Amino acid sequence: AASYPFHGAHQSGVLTPGPADKQRFACYAAFDATASGRADLADLLRTLTGRARFLTSGGAVPDLGVGAPPSDSDILGPVVPADGLTVTLAVGSSLFDDRYGLGAAKPARLTEMKVFPNDSPDPAWTHGDLLLQMCANNPDTLHHAIRDIAKHTRGAMQLRWRIEGYNSPPRPSGTSRNLLGFKDGTANPTGSTASDLIWVDAADEPAWARGGTYAVVRLIRMLVEFWDRVSINEQETMFGRRRDSGAPLDGNNEFDTPDYQADPKGQVIPLDSHIRLANPRTHATADQRLLRRSYNYDLGVDTNGNMQSGHIFTCFQQDVHRQFENIQTRLINEPLVDYVQPFGGGYFFTLPGVRDSSDWYGKGLL
Ligand code: HEM
Repeated sequence: AASYPFHGAHQSGVLTPGPADKQRFACYAAFDATASGRADLADLLRTLTGRARFLTSGGAVPDLGVGAPPSDSDILGPVVPADGLTVTLAVGSSLFDDRYGLGAAKPARLTEMKVFPNDSPDPAWTHGDLLLQMCANNPDTLHHAIRDIAKHTRGAMQLRWRIEGYNSPPRPSGTSRNLLGFKDGTANPTGSTASDLIWVDAADEPAWARGGTYAVVRLIRMLVEFWDRVSINEQETMFGRRRDSGAPLDGNNEFDTPDYQADPKGQVIPLDSHIRLANPRTHATADQRLLRRSYNYDLGVDTNGNMQSGHIFTCFQQDVHRQFENIQTRLINEPLVDYVQPFGGGYFFTLPGVRDSSDWYGKGLL
């Protein structure tokens, strides 16, 4: 799409209508809040709202006259295009510590990201008081947006980590592929099924948080050199799907539904395959489904000469424990763990939408 609405009950950038509407490029930027008190924090959130409102709709930038530093970097030229930009703001549990007196208003299910057995969290790539997920049709739009936002919020928040991602176009059709070569995102819930699984509405959540959603971001390196030495048959049994078409191993087409009842011993789709562990498709696990919205990343080369690339795994849900943690716990010893290395990310709460031109991010919180 050329642009996404900024105002609404929910933020844009979470539930894009269909896979074709998901922007090709993304930037995830986590910040430490450095605002000196609650009033400064409110100012920060109002400023963020103003910048996001402008950047996502685009327009001409004001001319401040000769002598003054220009109001815009002009990276996108004199008129800023919307370019499908979404700016989605989330907050981490650390924002609710003693600094701003917000403890009582903390979303009921927001905690620090749990460390799972195969994780090696790097503090330089983990957590944050605030998280911006920005997605757009071109990477220069993201660079422009983060520079603009950082410039206007200096003194109130400081970049902690930042990573850029991209998605492939359909190759040759259907959902885009991850860097292990598999279509990724096929079995996502859609429409009202997705809405019912992601938007927070529980009675024990603070009223201001209704309409938000919990975000889990996991920076997962892929050991791609190692993966490229694995036979296609073994790769496919690890996922439970075909690499060429994305079809489940008991089907023919990408969107065929696997039938686990017909294969109770896992002779066709192994019991420890990624899709079967992630979603056993039982009545008891139906409310554990979540919405994945991931991107590939590429950070170049590590000091040993190995490719430093992987997966910015992002998912949205009503309840991190009921959804993400239950699934992740089942995945702890899946065969895929030998080929991936989670090293960063965090748990965040995506704020409810900014409703109109007088509303701002977190108005109900502050
Ligand atoms: C499905 C890749 C991590 C949850 C899939 C599929 C692929 C894939 C290729 C099949 C196609 C699809 O339905 O999208 C990966 C890779 C990962 C990773 C490469 C790490 C590097 C995770 C994590 C979780 C997760 C951390 C959650 C804790 C799921 C779910 C499904 C899925 C829920 C759909 C299962 C279904 O409904 O059939 N993943 N995944 N994945 N994955 Fe992952």
